[in-house]
Amino acid sequence: MALQMEKIIDETKQGEAMQLDHQNGGKKLYLESYGCQMNFSDSEIVASILQKEGYMTTGDASEADVILLNTCAIRENAETRIRARLMQFNKIKELNPGIVIGVLGCMAERIKSELLEQEKLVDLVVGPDAYRDLPSLVEQADDGQKAVNVLLSREETYADVSPVRLNSNGVTAYISIMRGCDNMCSFCVVPFTRGRERSRDSESILHEAKYLFDKGYREVTLLGQNVDSYRWNMNRAGEVIDQEKEAINFSILLEKVAQVNPQMRVRFSTSHPKDMTNEVLEVMARYENICDYVHLPVQSGSTSVLKNMNRGYSREWYLERIAAVRKYMPNAGISTDIMTGFCHESDQDHQDTLDMIHEVRFDFAYMFAYSERPKTMAERKLKDDVPEELKKSRLAEVIAVQRQYNFEHLKKKVGKTYKVLIEGVSKRSDEDFSGRTSQNVVMVFPHEGKKKGDYVLVKAIDCTSGTLMGRIVENQA
Ligand code: SAH
Ligand code: SF4
Ligand code: F3S
Repeated sequence: MALQMEKIIDETKQGEAMQLDHQNGGKKLYLESYGCQMNFSDSEIVASILQKEGYMTTGDASEADVILLNTCAIRENAETRIRARLMQFNKIKELNPGIVIGVLGCMAERIKSELLEQEKLVDLVVGPDAYRDLPSLVEQADDGQKAVNVLLSREETYADVSPVRLNSNGVTAYISIMRGCDNMCSFCVVPFTRGRERSRDSESILHEAKYLFDKGYREVTLLGQNVDSYRWNMNRAGEVIDQEKEAINFSILLEKVAQVNPQMRVRFSTSHPKDMTNEVLEVMARYENICDYVHLPVQSGSTSVLKNMNRGYSREWYLERIAAVRKYMPNAGISTDIMTGFCHESDQDHQDTLDMIHEVRFDFAYMFAYSERPKTMAERKLKDDVPEELKKSRLAEVIAVQRQYNFEHLKKKVGKTYKVLIEGVSKRSDEDFSGRTSQNVVMVFPHEGKKKGDYVLVKAIDCTSGTLMGRIVENQA
């Protein structure tokens, strides 16, 4: 993935073709993924389900029997990009009418009829909870019928499907621990595209983590839209359901995953400021292999905007949570998401966001201009009244301020030594390795006889705007 940090992948950088690492059948699948890590993780489920049907993947859409796009609907431009891509694939279909073109993921539910009937751009539309149905739907589409399943489920977690690791470096992997979201932030389409929140069986999560470690993986990232609300054998009120069994919340799960092996790093995404507990921070501080890194999306520095967003916390609450992170982990890396130009955002609200950036001094931020999404509470109840130009100029301002802090944080790290997990050869040079520190900073350094999956101590000797350059100072970290 074209990302050095966890979290949402901006749609401008996405869309890489993924390849299965096996060749066991005659049929060829081309699978392209957009959006957040959850979607990339889902593509590994899709690949696993279709692998059982004898599909092997190809990086070349023109030789595929089935072309699938796993789509994102978070902002309008994400959707625009998918449409353009579908037009290109339809050109291929003109030459080879037998090809099945399908849309998976978060756009599926939203625009199934448009894509299938009005624009006739696709043969297959499958929502995020219906991937088990893919083999029969593909067959149906193969027979020339339009195939659709966008039903959302209250139970589906694909707990028993062993993901096929796509484009894997063999060192880091995602594990989905929950699906859907019940938070109903007023700007957000996810509760509509992915349905109700549900947690995955903790045993299957631990089993997957152990399996990955045995296969040589050395880092797992636990994924969910709001990992803090993970619960197993526990109801919403925190009461145990089956007294005979252990009740597991996120901090307990995190600790259990950390205990799989001290040599396996654990990360997670995403925490929600209203729900992130001291209990979780305490577990993070206690385990060396749980990375000192928190992604805590703030969205806005203004309490009144946060209220309109239905985020469930105030500016003060957020700052208190940041103080708690720093109390438990003084050296933690902290990143965030910021949105500019939400409904009724005034100049003062915008200033509050800039002040928030100065106050917290985030290591990194993903920043977006608000894009109204159909069905959301904001679309139904609030006026999208910040002009597009102003949304964009506020975004530019936020980016410029944050960029200074990105760089400042990196510069302060020059001269210090960090434990780095080697993830593979650097994109810039075959002579160098690339890996990350516990705080999620990318470091690039010469091989020196080490290999992928090793931990090394690396001294930072220089930095670019987003990366530390260093050299290995000790053989064994
Ligand atoms: N579950 C995560 C975020 C998922 S979406 C959380 O609650 O933090 C990732 C990010 O996309 C959000 O944090 C937000 O900053 C941005 N985003 C979501 N909806 C958006 C919209 N309608 N317009 C612009 N950005 C949006
Ligand atoms: Fe969307 Fe809010 Fe859920 Fe995140 S927590 S996915 S922003 S509704
Ligand atoms: Fe993720 Fe985009 Fe769906 S951010 S949950 S793929 S709408």
